[in-house]
Amino acid sequence: MKLFVDTADLNDIETIAGWGVLSGVTTNPTLLNRVDGDPDAIYRRVCELVDGPISAEVVADARGDMVTEGRRLAAIHPNIVVKLPMGAEGLAATSVLASKDVRVNMTLVFTAPQALLAASSGAAFVSPFVGRFDDIGESGIDQLRQVVEVMASPVFDTEVITASVRGPVHVLEAARIGADIATIPPKVFYQMLQHPLTARGIEQFTADAEARTARTTG
Ligand code: E4P
Repeated sequence: MKLFVDTADLNDIETIAGWGVLSGVTTNPTLLNRVDGDPDAIYRRVCELVDGPISAEVVADARGDMVTEGRRLAAIHPNIVVKLPMGAEGLAATSVLASKDVRVNMTLVFTAPQALLAASSGAAFVSPFVGRFDDIGESGIDQLRQVVEVMASPVFDTEVITASVRGPVHVLEAARIGADIATIPPKVFYQMLQHPLTARGIEQFTADAEARTARTTG
C-alpha cells in the first residue's frame, strides 16, 4: 500500500517526505484553512517536496464551474490531481475532466455504490472516508472493505485512497484489506513511527556500544 500525507502544512510534509516514505499528498479546504499563504503557491511547493499525485480540491458546486476550476488547478503542475466531491455535479465534472486527461480524486465517498459511480465516471482515485463513520459509532473499515472489493473489478483502474484516517489501526486495516493508498495525517505518521520498545532498544544498544568503546579504549 502506498502512503500519502493528508495535510497542507508544508513543515509536516517536508519532515515526513524526508523519511523517504511518501508517494503523494492530499489536501482539502479544511486542511488549507489551517495554513496561511497563497493556495497555488502552497500546491507548487508541495509538488517540489513530494514527487507523486498531489490532490487539490475544487470548491465550486456546479459542474461547469468545477470543470473550469479543476482545469485551472491541474495547470499548476503535472502532478496535481483535482479533487471533486461525490454527487451528480461532481460526477458530471469528473467525466468531462477525465475526457481531457485531467486526473480526478473523488472525495467524500462513503459507500461502495458511491465508489462504483466515481470509478464509472472516470475518476483516477476514489477516497472512501473511514474515520467519519467511526466518529458516529459505525465501522468505516467495513465500508472500506466493500469499496476495495468492488474496485478490484478489472473494469476499473481507479485507485482506492483510504481517507479520514484516525490512527495507525486504520492504516494497518487498510493495508490488510488491500487498499491501494492510505492518506495519513501527520499526527498518525508520528504515532506509527514511535514505540516504547524501540526507544528502549535504541537506549540499550547505545549504552552497550558506549560501554564496549570505553572498555576497549581504556
Ligand atoms: C482526504 O482526502 C480527506 O479530505 C481527509 O482524509 C478527511 O479527513 P477528516 O474526515 O478527518 O476531515
